[in-house]
Amino acid sequence: MTTNKELLSLRTANTPRGVGTQTNIFADRARNAEIWDVEGNHYIDLAAGIAVVNTGHNHPAVIAAVKTQLERFSHTCFQVAPYDVYVQLAKRLNELAPGDTPKKTIFLTTGAEAVENAVKIARRYTERSGIIAFSGAFHGRTMMGMALTGKVVPYKAGFGPFPAEVFHVPYPIAYHGISVDDSLDALATLFKSDVEPSRIAAMIIEPVQGEGGFYPAPTGFLQKMRAVCDEHGILLIIDEIQTGFGRTGTLFACEQSDIEPDLMPVAKSLAGGFPLSGVIGKADIMDSVPPGGLGGTFGGSAIACAAGLAVLDIIENEKLCNKAQAIGVQVREWATELQKNNNCIGEIRTMGAMCAIELVTNGDADKPDADLTRTIAANALTEGVILLTCGVRGNVIRFLPPLTIEPELLGKALEVVGNTIQKLSGNVVRKVG
Ligand SMILES: Cc1ncc(COP(=O)(O)O)c(C=O)c1O
Repeated sequence: MTTNKELLSLRTANTPRGVGTQTNIFADRARNAEIWDVEGNHYIDLAAGIAVVNTGHNHPAVIAAVKTQLERFSHTCFQVAPYDVYVQLAKRLNELAPGDTPKKTIFLTTGAEAVENAVKIARRYTERSGIIAFSGAFHGRTMMGMALTGKVVPYKAGFGPFPAEVFHVPYPIAYHGISVDDSLDALATLFKSDVEPSRIAAMIIEPVQGEGGFYPAPTGFLQKMRAVCDEHGILLIIDEIQTGFGRTGTLFACEQSDIEPDLMPVAKSLAGGFPLSGVIGKADIMDSVPPGGLGGTFGGSAIACAAGLAVLDIIENEKLCNKAQAIGVQVREWATELQKNNNCIGEIRTMGAMCAIELVTNGDADKPDADLTRTIAANALTEGVILLTCGVRGNVIRFLPPLTIEPELLGKALEVVGNTIQKLSGNVVRKVG
């Protein structure tokens, strides 16, 4: 039998440490919300491959669609011999995207690549260069992705210089004393002191800040950003890479703000575990780029597009948006009960099944407890629950189970996490220095 330890030493010797891993268990097989490692240990998966398998690991309908496509062909390159599943998936997404304006969709492979392409298209359409992003944002690890990302360590440190003309303003987070007015004031100051709005091609925003700490945009904020963009001819890019495909209780999170994005990068859960990303955008904006300006050898893999069609069916047939809302309620009720006896839980945030607790010392929002957060995740793992941490301060535990998780299994995992928190809060050995 291969052990986790053997594979870890192989990994350490042969792969760079820059690809951080949150656990040292090596996956052997996975079904729905459960993973077994190479030693046969069983885990409940509250990470879903970082919000990638909203439809669960190896959903039978996804696997069937992929098998059928594999029998036909795996790759011709859409730019050489285009194929049906690409254009069929584009049509469905164009119909499902928020707003009435006709849409077009390009497919790529990773989230960062989708963000890159959204920026390219926005610059080409507007013939402007500037891009506004938000502090705490995460938009990927390519050069433009890093430039847009609003967190230096570990994403940007030592990798510059980045593409120019990217400006950051604070993301409104009431828990940390940043109001919507503060963000609007910062934007006004930016337009006065750094760059005129007529030089800005686009503003990019996550409807729920993901890696930054699972902070949903306050009510009305996205609408205000839409209005600012409209006033100045700036395109609004809504990054739905982590929030999309039912995660927040609607197919796309920005639907809940009743706004229509100009461009919408999507990825992660789009293809149920197969690498696929895309940019869905208003048709005239998408068509501003002449032939040859967009694309990529693997962009819109036929296998992944076939999986994507199955994912959209599953979300609809299995009512996964409703299930996401039910998961949010279950996690919130559990966390609220736990918070009564544990003042380390500073804030509970749920938007559908994008759920988080922020861990602090003595209920003080200004005293983030990253040590406790790491320790809870590590201990939960030894008890068989895979948890992810996040946050600019490293003190947020996020809950991202597949939307198909059985409520009983989720309850079991939450019980484990709850016991771990009860045991640890107050007696964690803090790092010195
Ligand atoms: C909001 C958001 N944008 C972009 C990305 C980058 O996606 P990828 O890792 O597929 O390049 C991520 C990944 O976590 C994300 O959450």
